[in-house]
Amino acid sequence: MNAHLIDTLLEKTVVPSFSSIGPGVRRRLFDWQRLESYDLTGRVVVLTGGTSGIGEAAAELYATLGATLVIVARDLEKTQRTIERLSNQSGNTDMHYVIGDLGRQEDVHTIAAELSSRFPAIDVLAHNAGALFNERRLAQNGIDLSVELMVSTPFLLTGLLLPQLGVPHEPLHDTTAGTATAARPRPGRVLTMSSGGMYTEPLTVDGLCMPDATYQGAQQYARAKRAQVVLNELWGERISATQCVFHALHPGWVATPGITEALPGFSRILGPLGLLRSPREGADTMVWLSADTEPEKDTGKFWHDRAQRSIHMSQKTRKANTDERRQALWQWCEAHTGWSLTPV
Ligand SMILES: NC(=O)c1ccc[n+]([C@@H]2O[C@H](COP(=O)([O-])OP(=O)(O)OC[C@H]3O[C@@H](n4cnc5c(N)ncnc54)[C@H](OP(=O)(O)O)[C@@H]3O)[C@@H](O)[C@H]2O)c1
Repeated sequence: MNAHLIDTLLEKTVVPSFSSIGPGVRRRLFDWQRLESYDLTGRVVVLTGGTSGIGEAAAELYATLGATLVIVARDLEKTQRTIERLSNQSGNTDMHYVIGDLGRQEDVHTIAAELSSRFPAIDVLAHNAGALFNERRLAQNGIDLSVELMVSTPFLLTGLLLPQLGVPHEPLHDTTAGTATAARPRPGRVLTMSSGGMYTEPLTVDGLCMPDATYQGAQQYARAKRAQVVLNELWGERISATQCVFHALHPGWVATPGITEALPGFSRILGPLGLLRSPREGADTMVWLSADTEPEKDTGKFWHDRAQRSIHMSQKTRKANTDERRQALWQWCEAHTGWSLTPV
């Protein structure tokens, strides 16, 4: 049976695909290039949520591959400890941090201002921070915190950093003539860590923040994650891929502090069966999307285990994905964050 057919069958069965079986099989099927063989020296990678779980594993990999790594996080001491550990481990001293709460739009403005003054060119912006709240939490502006953290503030941060993403980098050296030629524009990459949970929820803008009476954490989380993948496509439609490419992904089911806290029963059952992925396996596709040339060939795509996937597994979500709702989501983000692609 051909490798792509096996992969497609695996994808349709969900449990083997999302669990630790997925990368185990696919690594062998497609002879995955080892992440450690990539070189990110000279590339500026801005990573949110790099202090725990998948993000921490990604930070470790970025450090090992020699990236100039900037972790955006909310807890100063925890972030400093993470950077010190990763720096000692990898020998990479080109590691930085910017502190701010990604549940607050005011902080995002400060974070973006600091990033753009310190890093005039950003190669990768990886939106990884996220959380599932079983009890509703509200951001300071009164909006559901999971929507603020995973929809509004990544949108705002991307918008504010667009001038830094994909600006021309070092001049190309013509080795035959020994002269520097025109600057080589390398597209920036914006990556968004969504979740397979989004397959369960159709796109909704009116219901993006669930009403209190019917609030359910997992459902609210899935709605925010659905919005993330749609926004990823919309960014891809609006920004030229020669400037910046946009990709979203889902990591499968990963053993992290976040999942243990949010879904303890799930972790208790799948963990002992060995079905949860390691954080490193959860980080694999994000780091691969940052380092391989394949993601530069396309934009606005959704990935899992290093391959493009559909954003739908049911008619219910397909039907709800109307152009009207998609445009309404973009307009909601612009109105809610005050950042607009077309200056008003
Ligand atoms: N684990 C899974 O199975 C799974 C499955 C699908 C998708 N995901 C997604 O993968 C991403 C990482 O999740 P994880 O499982 O690794 O969770 P995690 O261990 O809880 O890590 C979440 C990260 O996000 C940061 N964060 C949360 N709220 C923040 C805020 N207001 N401001 C700044 N940073 C904030 C956390 O910072 P602190 O260290 O300060 O807490 C932490 O670094 C999330 O987007 C999640 O939705 C995970």
